[in-house]
Amino acid sequence: MSKALDGVRILDFTHVQSGPTCTQLLAWFGADVIKVERAGEGDATRGQLRDIPGADSLYFTMLNHNKRSITLDTKNPKGKAVLETMIKTCDVLVENFAPGALDRMGFTWERINELNPRMIVASVKGFGPGPYQDCKVYENVAQCTGGSASTTGFEDGTPMVTGAQIGDSGTGLHLALGIVTALYQRNSTGRGQKVNASMQDSVLNLCRVKVRDQQRLARTGVMEEYPQYPNGKFGDAVPRAGNASGGGQPGSILKCKGWETDPNAYIYFIAQAAVWGSICKVIGKEEWITHPDYAKPRDRLPRLASIFATVEEWTKTKTKFEAMDILNSFDIPCGPILSIKEITEDQSLRDTGTIVEVDHPVRGKYLSVGNPIKLSDSKTEVTRSPLLGEHTEEVLAQLGYSAEQIADLRAEKVI
Ligand code: COA
Repeated sequence: MSKALDGVRILDFTHVQSGPTCTQLLAWFGADVIKVERAGEGDATRGQLRDIPGADSLYFTMLNHNKRSITLDTKNPKGKAVLETMIKTCDVLVENFAPGALDRMGFTWERINELNPRMIVASVKGFGPGPYQDCKVYENVAQCTGGSASTTGFEDGTPMVTGAQIGDSGTGLHLALGIVTALYQRNSTGRGQKVNASMQDSVLNLCRVKVRDQQRLARTGVMEEYPQYPNGKFGDAVPRAGNASGGGQPGSILKCKGWETDPNAYIYFIAQAAVWGSICKVIGKEEWITHPDYAKPRDRLPRLASIFATVEEWTKTKTKFEAMDILNSFDIPCGPILSIKEITEDQSLRDTGTIVEVDHPVRGKYLSVGNPIKLSDSKTEVTRSPLLGEHTEEVLAQLGYSAEQIADLRAEKVI
């Protein structure tokens, strides 16, 4: 079967997480992704958080599937010449070096555009233009500067980072969309362009609802669906909302049977207005259906804490899976808190290719997260990540280098 991005060649100059997640997606959609790494060490994540001595880490293998790897010293003049040949023959260059690194290497946008006017140059940086544009950035810096940390956690606690890698993988997703959009525009203009996604901007985009709330707060001084209402105080900035729902339907995390010993015996419960009658019936509070304190969504807002406490008395008598089954039979939206262990053991996620088992020549079999985006006419087959420099000879030969030239480059430690 053909793949959506068949024929697209990517010069993958990315490392760590944000850039590699982007190019991995493009590889899953069929692009030929050639990862350029420094000889000897390669992407720093190959050696980080290792669980098997001598084997590429899960950090690396799970972010670099379906790619080819070449080693190249791009600061050496002969290495630069190889990179120039690659620039001339690739469609997209993706990088997430610290600000200025590509320029210092001699590959400014102007130079790349001169070598290949059709090339799309896509970059992740921590910040866009402004006071912090020259700063190096990792995941949690982006979560803190993009509005996520100040709005996550409990009202009486410190700001909190989330487990979801919204700064790195979230920015990789944004960048991937920018790249395919630029490829589409190139079909009509024939020109490449720069694509920039900053980690702060990407996190902020994912925190859009909090900017909504900031303006509501400024106008009304209160947000009735937040746990601070009605007894707490609102300041002048959007506060941390605990586990309150981010939308118009109130929600909370409630204990289920076994919560005393199992840290994940909880369920997210949404008191959706449309099914209020069913909720009351399930928890044995039929009188609330017509009671003036509870009948209408607005009446319930000042009483949410006690309503959820009452629902919790019911959820505590069920396991999270029993509660899920019962509530869903009444169309009441809810979700069990699934541990990563439970998720990786879920057969339905394996059946759809969302959780995949991959074989690696050094580490053996391991689990990975497959492509979350399913295209009916471009199926994803997840293949293992490349060993460092595994495809150096193959790629150089494709670029027209003879065996003798390749041997010379190796002798001079350029590759
Ligand atoms: N050959 C020769 N030199 C190479 C090379 C190669 N194949 N690949 C990289 N290098 C050089 C770079 O040119 C740079 O050299 P310079 O500093 O002398 O200009 C050097 O390696 C280090 O690159 P850098 O990106 O600065 O790595 P770092 O480890 O110091 O910083 C980050 C890592 C992630 C903090 C930084 O890359 C960054 O802020 N990136 C943008 C934001 C981002 O993506 N962050 C999230 C990462 S998950």
